Amino acid sequence: MTTVVDRWNIHPDHRWLRGQRPASPVEFDESQGLWNVYGYPETLEILSTPETFSSNTARLMPVSVDPSLSEGDMSQMDPPRHRTFRSLVSRAFTPRLIAGLEPRITEVVDGLIEEMDGKAELELVADLAYPLPVIVIAELLGVPASDRDLFKKWADDIIEGFSGASFLDGSEQGEQDLRDATERLKPLLDYLAGHVADRRRNPKDDLLTHLALAEADGERLTDNEVVNVANILLVTGHITTTMLLGNTMLCLDAYPDQFARVREDRSLVPGAIEEALRMLPPSAALARGTTQDVRIAGQHIPKDQLVFLWLGAANRDPRQFTDPEVYDCARTPNPHFGFGRGIHYCIGAALSQLEGRIALNKLLDRFPVLRTDPDKPPGFFPTADMIGINSLPMHTS
Ligand code: HEM
Repeated sequence: MTTVVDRWNIHPDHRWLRGQRPASPVEFDESQGLWNVYGYPETLEILSTPETFSSNTARLMPVSVDPSLSEGDMSQMDPPRHRTFRSLVSRAFTPRLIAGLEPRITEVVDGLIEEMDGKAELELVADLAYPLPVIVIAELLGVPASDRDLFKKWADDIIEGFSGASFLDGSEQGEQDLRDATERLKPLLDYLAGHVADRRRNPKDDLLTHLALAEADGERLTDNEVVNVANILLVTGHITTTMLLGNTMLCLDAYPDQFARVREDRSLVPGAIEEALRMLPPSAALARGTTQDVRIAGQHIPKDQLVFLWLGAANRDPRQFTDPEVYDCARTPNPHFGFGRGIHYCIGAALSQLEGRIALNKLLDRFPVLRTDPDKPPGFFPTADMIGINSLPMHTS
């Protein structure tokens, strides 16, 4: 059977995306000096024990990361600091607030689809999958959505800087690559710093003001912390959702019987999105560092080791999922790791699911035919820790 992965040759080195189970659910990679985890129960155990598997991995990287860049980055924090920061940000992402965004998201999708009118060929990323999440998160934060071409340029620059660079080998070149890559972050950080300074002087009703005025452990967040939180929300908040929309379309396109089912029965739309997250998780790898010696899947992992969790592999573990290589929009339950698990579970999960649901429904309403073109294949982000498209030409007839 040709799968979506074979069809577009997605990450040729990730053999686990092609039904080849690694020999063991936990393996030591001698060349890189780190551990790879591929199994579902092992991933679950690691994500459920943050006291043993810490998110503060910068201390274990062979190259030194500028510490000012991770100040305020909750994804790198452990409790109790993590709890404090997460509660500050999660106030903006409560189920009630997210549900309240539905009319505005619908309006944005309608506007973008209207602009596609009459086009025989779409570029789904540029036309919808990129602008939708970036407009929504920019409005939530309170930065001008009209600057989105700038965000795209900066985000592309950052990703390009991180792709192909060898940060894990501890070499002089690795240090230089990291310095170059972090340099590329500067324009975006400076831009956000300007907006944070403005909110301190002129508070508004937006997330940036909320963060600028919020306190963590009785103290105001520093400018740098607010900038880093805003940066994470702006960048991770849109790139991943763009990939989610694109990956879902790719899956539906590769499995026409499933596409027909979803068109027929729209109650399957959320399932189509979750199943795409299972098979092609945009955040493909999570990193943790051991804080003590630990035994997992019969392997002894010493203290202070880097551990990479390959979500696409765990999401295909036959010990958890029946017929894991089959894309099934009606898969129930579907406890995939696309949004992680445990205390770091994705804060934006409900927002991206809502955006995905509205966008997919509207696309199906508007276009009776949507298909890829083998002569114009989709483009993919090149880095191994992401699975997702960055361009997706589609025909509408
Ligand atoms: C399909 C879209 C998305 C995917 C696949 C995704 C994936 C993930 C994953 C796997 C994690 C867990 C990281 C870990 O355990 O180390 C995570 C955490 C996080 N995500 Fe998302 N994400 C998405 C959308 C968003 C959006 C829209 C936002 C914000 C608007 C967001 C903000 C965050 C934040 C702040 C964290 C860190 C949470 C913490 O450390 O407590 N994500 N995301």
